[in-house]
Amino acid sequence: MTTIVERIGTLAVGRVETVTAEELRIALFNETPQATALNTGTPTGFPRVNAYVLIPNETGAVVAVIKEISIVRAKPGPGKHDEALVDLPFPARTVIAIPFGTLLREGNDSDSQPLYALERGVPVLPSVGDPVLLPTATQLRSIVEAKTDDRLIQIGSAPFAGNARVWVHPDKIFGRHLAVLGNTGSGKSCSVAGIVRWSLESAAAAQEGEQAKPANARFIILDPNGEYAKAFEDGTLPVRRFAVGGKDGANPLTVPGWLWNGQEWAAFTSAQPGVQRPILLRALRLLRNAGSSAATAKAQAVRRYGGYVRKLEQLIAELPQSVTDFPNNKNFGDLLQGLVGLTESDEAELAAFGEGAADLSAAISAIRDPIEQVRTSRQWANGNGYNNFQPADLQVVMAQLRTVTDNFPVAATHGEISEDAPVRFDVSALPDRINDVAMATGGQTLSNVEPLINRVQVMLGDAGLRPVIDTEGAASLSDWLAALLGPKEDSPEPLVILDLSLVPSDVVHIAVAVISRLIFEALQRHIKETNEALPTVLVLEEAHSFVRKDADVGASAQAADLCRQTFERVAREGRKFGLGLVLASQRPSELSPTVLAQCNSFLLHRIVNDVDQNLVRRLVPDALGGLLGELPTLPSQQAILLGWAVPTPVLLRVRDLEKPQRPRSDDPHFWDTWLGDKGVFPNWPRISEAWEKPDEEPDQLNGLAD
Ligand SMILES: Nc1ncnc2c1ncn2[C@@H]1O[C@H](COP(=O)(O)OP(=O)(O)O)[C@@H](O)[C@H]1O
Ligand SMILES: [Mg+2]
Repeated sequence: MTTIVERIGTLAVGRVETVTAEELRIALFNETPQATALNTGTPTGFPRVNAYVLIPNETGAVVAVIKEISIVRAKPGPGKHDEALVDLPFPARTVIAIPFGTLLREGNDSDSQPLYALERGVPVLPSVGDPVLLPTATQLRSIVEAKTDDRLIQIGSAPFAGNARVWVHPDKIFGRHLAVLGNTGSGKSCSVAGIVRWSLESAAAAQEGEQAKPANARFIILDPNGEYAKAFEDGTLPVRRFAVGGKDGANPLTVPGWLWNGQEWAAFTSAQPGVQRPILLRALRLLRNAGSSAATAKAQAVRRYGGYVRKLEQLIAELPQSVTDFPNNKNFGDLLQGLVGLTESDEAELAAFGEGAADLSAAISAIRDPIEQVRTSRQWANGNGYNNFQPADLQVVMAQLRTVTDNFPVAATHGEISEDAPVRFDVSALPDRINDVAMATGGQTLSNVEPLINRVQVMLGDAGLRPVIDTEGAASLSDWLAALLGPKEDSPEPLVILDLSLVPSDVVHIAVAVISRLIFEALQRHIKETNEALPTVLVLEEAHSFVRKDADVGASAQAADLCRQTFERVAREGRKFGLGLVLASQRPSELSPTVLAQCNSFLLHRIVNDVDQNLVRRLVPDALGGLLGELPTLPSQQAILLGWAVPTPVLLRVRDLEKPQRPRSDDPHFWDTWLGDKGVFPNWPRISEAWEKPDEEPDQLNGLAD
């Protein structure tokens, strides 16, 4: 077979005229074809922007990508004068190409056809006068297609490289986060659905031995528009779907409140950092610990009274005489009142644990009356204020508290569950518990947390939120994780679609933050336990709404902020634990730069907007930014893939998805509705009736469609 050098004669299309480190200026020969070259063996479109040319050298050939083609009207030089022609400026075609790699010969394949491999970088730049060749079909494939070992998932073909197939290796494309960016309608969702589908299909097909079985894979799609279920309902891939209220036969999507950590609760309830937040966190801690065991409940209660003892000791130290004057006496009275309320609720709580906690429960009950007596003895008859408390009063209260703390010592802070632990508790008890803690703290606290309590109450009462955050019937932590991060023996679905379209907007950010954090932490724990990562891909559509660059304003600002922070953490650290991100967004300039900077591969669809184009340009590391000039004019389904996943940036046409395998496009059908071909006549009485019902359930809402 011929070598690169031997074929120079037939394939040369021009000559290098100017060389800089960034680009080559090439003069094309006059006889070089305009549109189609046949001398490569197959018809080759040439010359075109984004096509490739080769400049042979000692080690192989420099590969350059065409950035610009122009006609220079040059006067024919001396000696080139054609006597038969009038001496007019002569149009010469000039190509500007960017060198980016070297093609090396790598022996022959089984049919003794030459094989080549592409190396990034150009150790020896071409020189002026060097011939410029068109690559053959094999050479084109070597430029565009990944190394043989990396040819695992075919995602498209390269129209500018003889339709060479574009392959990716999952370790590369998912291992270091992928961003799919482009305007609405440019084909992002189809590409994402395709990449997921082709990955799973290739994995199932590649399994050796008996029948192909579903891949042991974990793809989780967070789907805010509810568009992906349709793309996978053809039954060719096993899928687990989740949607609020179990819409359309999906599993019910729940993100129970007890799974949320303290920060998530604080963001959701917009708890103010000063007073409200610590009280909220403490209430959560109490609730989680209450649910754990009698032993921890006991430790909790004793520690609580220990806190009171310390507070009193401090008070006595500061006010050796008595608690005098307003507001001191009022505050102390409130403190005692809180304490009495607390003994009551503690007693009840401990009694519920029976056996181990009964003694403590009795001890707490016994101190209530003496304390109440001290309090009422100083309270005004009208109940609106207090007289000064005397030193003896303080001593009495202190002695009472000590009967609890001295008789039931508690070992350090042993075994206390933090407010962040996903320990199950009854979420509906939260407002009461916040109230208890605030009362116990005394002073102005109760009035400060009143708005917080109201907010939590309203949220828990909201018919839309309840099915999402409710604990009723919710699984255990392990069931919840298994449902999401299966596959389990009995449910081997490698793909999970979480339909977020019915999640009320006030909770969707928190829900996404909680789900992503739990997946992240679960994988982190898995690696700790087994020393092995559990590769998982988390797909986030409409990423600009969950990973916003700017702090959000409005009611859910804290939640949106928290959601961004969660994803920034996943983007930064996810790789260590096998968690890969796929982000899809039509507003790249609104995405958090931290998250974008962690993405190592980009699939860029059509981007028209200036700001977005500029942002994307800055993300591209090499001199190949010229490729991106194509962005505003890319047809749907075409995209530029660059970064870690491919040896060289390549313009590709994404593989076709059959109509039933495409995500649902939710453009409204005006015309068809006008003509009566589509759409239903609205049933306003039914809609309003359901709307007005205070306790309407979301499944009733869904029922409206039929
Ligand atoms: N790989 C593909 N196969 C088939 N059709 C596609 C493909 N990519 C895009 N399309 C077409 O483009 C339309 C818009 O694509 P979509 O993925 O919904 O865009 P986006 O998510 O960017 O808004 C689709 O409805 C489909 O008709
Ligand atoms: Mg889309």
